[in-house]
Amino acid sequence: MKPKISRTMIIFVTVIAASMLSSLANADSALMRDGFKRPTDIPFPEENGYTDAKAVLGKMLFFDPRLSRENNITCASCHNPSFAWEDAQTTSVGTPMSRLGRHTPTVLNLAWGELFFWDGRSESLEEQALGPIQAGGEMAQDLDLLIAELKAVSGYVDMFEAAFPREGITAENIGKAIATYERTIVSAKAPFDHWIEGDENAINAAAKRGFELFNTKAKCASCHDGWNFTDWSFHDIGLGDADEGRYEVLDIDVLKHSFKTPGLRNINERAPYMHNGSLATLEEVVEHYDSGFVKRASLSSEMQELNLTKGEKHDLVAFIKTLSSNDPQVSLPKLPN
Ligand code: HEC
Ligand code: HEC
Repeated sequence: MKPKISRTMIIFVTVIAASMLSSLANADSALMRDGFKRPTDIPFPEENGYTDAKAVLGKMLFFDPRLSRENNITCASCHNPSFAWEDAQTTSVGTPMSRLGRHTPTVLNLAWGELFFWDGRSESLEEQALGPIQAGGEMAQDLDLLIAELKAVSGYVDMFEAAFPREGITAENIGKAIATYERTIVSAKAPFDHWIEGDENAINAAAKRGFELFNTKAKCASCHDGWNFTDWSFHDIGLGDADEGRYEVLDIDVLKHSFKTPGLRNINERAPYMHNGSLATLEEVVEHYDSGFVKRASLSSEMQELNLTKGEKHDLVAFIKTLSSNDPQVSLPKLPN
C-alpha cells in the first residue's frame, strides 16, 4: 500500500507543479505575444495628411516610367509588389543598366518608419521619394525637366490641382503624393496575427516553439520587436562586406557597418536578404546568426554565438514564415496623358 500511496501523491504533486509551470509559461507567452499586436490605424503626419486624391495620384507616380530620365523605369521596377515590394536581385539594376551598391528594401509598412534607407540618411518619406528620381544610378531624372514633362500631361495637371489646390505640380507635391501612397502599403493579417488574436490553430507547434526561441535563446526580438518586427534602429550584425552603413552618415565609430533593422513581414517573399543581398535563404540567415557573423569592434553586443540545434533552427524558420500574409492583388493604374 505504502509505495502506491506515495506514488499517487508524487503523480498528483507533479501534475499540480506541471500545471502551475505551464500556466506560468502561458502567462509568459501571453506577455510576449502582447508586444506584437497590430496597430489599428495607419499614422499620417500632420504636414501631409491623408486624402484619397493624394493617394491615387501617388500610386500613379509610383508606377509611371515617365518619372525616369529614359522613361523606362518606375519605382515598382525595383519595389515590385510581386516580390513583397522588392526585386529579387542581390543588388538592383538602375539607369543606365548599372548595378546599385545595395539590395532593394521593401516599402511595406513604412508609415511607421522613422529614418529611411539602409543607413537612415533620409528623415521622411516625402524627402526620400525625390532621392531615387534624381539618383544617377536609379532613375537619373532632372527634377525641373520632370516637372515640365508632367505639366504637359493634362491629366496630371488636373490631378495635382485636386490633390494640392492652388499649388499644382511641384517637387514637394510629387514627394507628398508618393509618400501618401507608400503609407497605404501595409501587409495584411498573417497567420501569426490570427494566433496573436487567439486562434490557437492558426500556426503549428513548430512555429510556436520558434516564436519562443525568437524571444529567448535566439535573441532575435532584441532588435526585431513590435508588430512589424523592427526597432527601426541601426546595428552591426557582422556581414563581411566593406559597406560602412550608418557610419558614413554620422561618423561615429560604434556605428561602423550598422544598418537599419528591416521589418520581417512577408519576409519569405523577399529573398535575397540583407543590405547587400548576400544571404539567399532564411536557413542561411539563421546560420549567420547562429555562428556565421564576423567579429569586430563595432559588432552589436546582442550578437553572440547561439548554439542552436538543428531542430531549433527549423522551428525558427517555421515561425518566421508565419509572418507572411496573402496580400490583396495590386492593380496597375491606368496612367493619364
Ligand atoms: C533601380 C532600383 C530602384 C528604383 C527605380 C527605386 N528604388 Fe527605392 N530603393 C532602392 C534601393 C537599392 C534602396 C536602398 C538604398 C540605400 O539604402 O542606400 C531603396 C530605398 C528606398 C526606400 C527606403 C526604404 C527603407 O526601408 O528605408 C524607399 C521608401 C524607396 N526606396 C522608395 C522609392 C520610390 C518612391 C521610388 C520611385 C520614385 C524608388 N524607390 C525607386 C532601389 C530603387
Ligand atoms: C543586434 C540586432 C539584431 C539581432 C539580435 C537580430 N537581427 Fe536580424 N537584422 C538586424 C539588422 C540590423 C539587419 C539588417 C542587416 C544588414 O543588412 O546589414 C537584420 C536583417 C535580418 C533579416 C533580413 C531582412 C531583410 O529584409 O533582408 C532577417 C530575415 C533577420 N534579420 C532575422 C533575424 C533572426 C531570425 C534573428 C535571431 C536569430 C535576428 N534577425 C537577430 C538586426 C538584428
